[in-house]
Amino acid sequence: MNNDILTVKQNLGIVGNSLPLQQAVSAALQAAPYDVNVLIVGENGVGKEVFHKILHNYGPRKHNKCIPVNCGALPEGTINSELFGHVKGAFTGAIADRKGYFEEANGGTIFLDEVGELPLETQARLLRVIETGEYKRMGSNEIHKTNVRVVAATNRDLHEAIEKGKFRQDLYYRLAAVTIRVPALRERPEDIHLLFRKFAADVAAKYNCPKISVDDGGRQFLMAYSWPGNVRQLLHLVEEISIVETERVITSEILKKYLPDFESRVTSAGGTHKDSYENGFGPGEKAMLYKVLFEMKQQLEEVRAQLGLSDTTVQSTRPVRQLQQARPVTVDEFEEQEAEEVTTVPSVSYTPASDSPVSTTPSGSASAPTPNNIPRTLEQMEKEAIENALKRNDGNKRKAAEELGISERTIHRKIADYGL
Ligand SMILES: Nc1ncnc2c1ncn2[C@@H]1O[C@H](COP(=O)(O)OP(=O)(O)OP(=O)(O)O)[C@@H](O)[C@H]1O
Ligand SMILES: [Mg+2]
Repeated sequence: MNNDILTVKQNLGIVGNSLPLQQAVSAALQAAPYDVNVLIVGENGVGKEVFHKILHNYGPRKHNKCIPVNCGALPEGTINSELFGHVKGAFTGAIADRKGYFEEANGGTIFLDEVGELPLETQARLLRVIETGEYKRMGSNEIHKTNVRVVAATNRDLHEAIEKGKFRQDLYYRLAAVTIRVPALRERPEDIHLLFRKFAADVAAKYNCPKISVDDGGRQFLMAYSWPGNVRQLLHLVEEISIVETERVITSEILKKYLPDFESRVTSAGGTHKDSYENGFGPGEKAMLYKVLFEMKQQLEEVRAQLGLSDTTVQSTRPVRQLQQARPVTVDEFEEQEAEEVTTVPSVSYTPASDSPVSTTPSGSASAPTPNNIPRTLEQMEKEAIENALKRNDGNKRKAAEELGISERTIHRKIADYGL
């Protein structure tokens, strides 16, 4: 990893080694010295806030002030006064002149968080101060000058807001001289465990409680989930589990209790960025494999339940646990094995989603998964997953790709590769 990026991450407490995150940090570092206005976009909870610090701390104004303003939290009645100041008597309660943030930040940076929430009237004032450096305090006609770099952030789709007449297009272009997109957590599954560990340590220190950790099954679970609330949701989850749960090693069964929407939120990552690495699996394909493996685990558990197998029995017959240990689905294992095109997975009796996982003998007894069944490779599982997705979607490749969390280009390639 580039040393500058590493230093920035360490200085600002940014956790994550994924390529999309590094690209965002790198873009901020590149833009920082140019003193241009920057718009930071990304879903809620992805970690946009810290990016204004990169832009300020590594830019030409670093020795001057940086003032963060949460536009969404300012009451509409006082927002102009907060941003541009007021003079004594401007409104009831204005007992003295007051500087606004644009005056305070003169020579420095102002961070307008949740900029999409600004009312149109304030947007007009903002446009003026950005274009000319001029503003008026509320209740006065005197023109003041300021020189401020504006960094703004939003989780709103500003293009949609522009279309609906809720955001000024001219302001948008002024704010977005450079746009930095912070990736959603599901686009960087390899960061999830790192973040989990960091938050677990922070929470343990904060509440003086034993630190939680996550087992391999739990790790896969976390990576298969789509995280609509992104990093903030993960942080809250770790906090809640640390406090509420008595177990300290967190399994997928435990996580299921805290993420009851899991089934409907299995990741569909990968469509939004580079979907294939040269040597094998791209993020979308990884996500699909996690999904397949997770389904397998669930089905094995159903088999266990139907056979009344205890944990001890299960361990002694090499089922779920061994599968977790040996199969290459954790990030580190995955990265190591990316170079190997095909990887053997411990054998299990697996029948794809739509069918029963249990084959029933004529006498009616179910056959348990045994290590002696035909070994299955990730390639085979991937092929089956694609076949099944195509069946479920009546051969519609676009829908199947969507369901699997891969791009259409990838599914076309896979269909050709596997001769489906
Ligand atoms: N890469 C990261 N490393 C460590 N902590 C992170 C990271 N990304 C986000 N966080 C933490 O997650 C929480 C949410 O991040 P942040 O407030 O920046 O989200 P946001 O993108 O501004 O969301 P919103 O649009 O809802 O305001 C914060 O507590 C932040 O410190
Ligand atoms: Mg924010």
